[in-house]
Amino acid sequence: MKRGAELALSKRREVVVVGAVVVLALGLAAVLGLSPERWVDNPGRKASSLKWRSSVALADTAVVLLAAILAYSSIRSLAGKSPARHLPWRRTVGVAAGIAAFVHLVIGLSIHGELAKPWESFFTGWPSASQPVPLLRGKRGFANWVGFGAASLLVGLVVISNRTWLRRLGGSRWKNAQRSTYLVFGLVGIHAFYYWKVEERLLLHRFIITALMGMAIVLQLSAVLRVGLRTTKAGSS
Ligand code: HEM
Repeated sequence: MKRGAELALSKRREVVVVGAVVVLALGLAAVLGLSPERWVDNPGRKASSLKWRSSVALADTAVVLLAAILAYSSIRSLAGKSPARHLPWRRTVGVAAGIAAFVHLVIGLSIHGELAKPWESFFTGWPSASQPVPLLRGKRGFANWVGFGAASLLVGLVVISNRTWLRRLGGSRWKNAQRSTYLVFGLVGIHAFYYWKVEERLLLHRFIITALMGMAIVLQLSAVLRVGLRTTKAGSS
């Protein structure tokens, strides 16, 4: 395909993906506006906080996008197709998931803390002889550190999700690096689980997110199993 046409196509793809992500995030924020959830530490309803709604809507949008990426490659493999090394739309969705997660992170830091003092979401104070590394403990501290781990990996994934890095790393190293999406998915699950405890999240809400993440994991495991069986069969024949 000519370079110009390729560029036009990739532009169109990005517009479609970004449009879909915005509609998804706005849709989730609208649904969260109906939530009866109340703050744990004050009588108010969370739904009246645009900050809370946008933080959770963006977090869930990122989860849906990550699940879509993982589900797509498994369905492809279950359909007997060879794994695709590099799919432009999957890369665009991956970058969109990263951006949604980063905006969530920034808003999330301001929900229980001050955005101007982000370190307070990770540490309890300055290092001292009695506490050389004063980590914020408890469920919230743990959730934030796990979230930080997921965000750090996502930064790396977003940075390398382009042709330049694909060429620089070479196909197999690039593909291996992309496999850290699995670790991100796991960390996000743990992070969300602990924040659900802190926030006393509604059962239905937890069920929907858990089912979505569970489905992506089951698809992945079935694809791995299928490929394993296929290889064994090929090896024994
Ligand atoms: C330092 C990094 C992070 C911080 C400080 C942070 C903060 C938060 C906060 C405050 C909540 C609870 C929201 C509420 O109910 O009030 C939350 C939930 C959540 N976060 Fe994060 N987050 C971080 C990183 C991430 C990353 C990288 C992701 C990736 C997608 C993510 C995904 C989620 C999810 C899925 C939930 C549960 C949302 C729900 O209840 O449906 N977070 N996070």
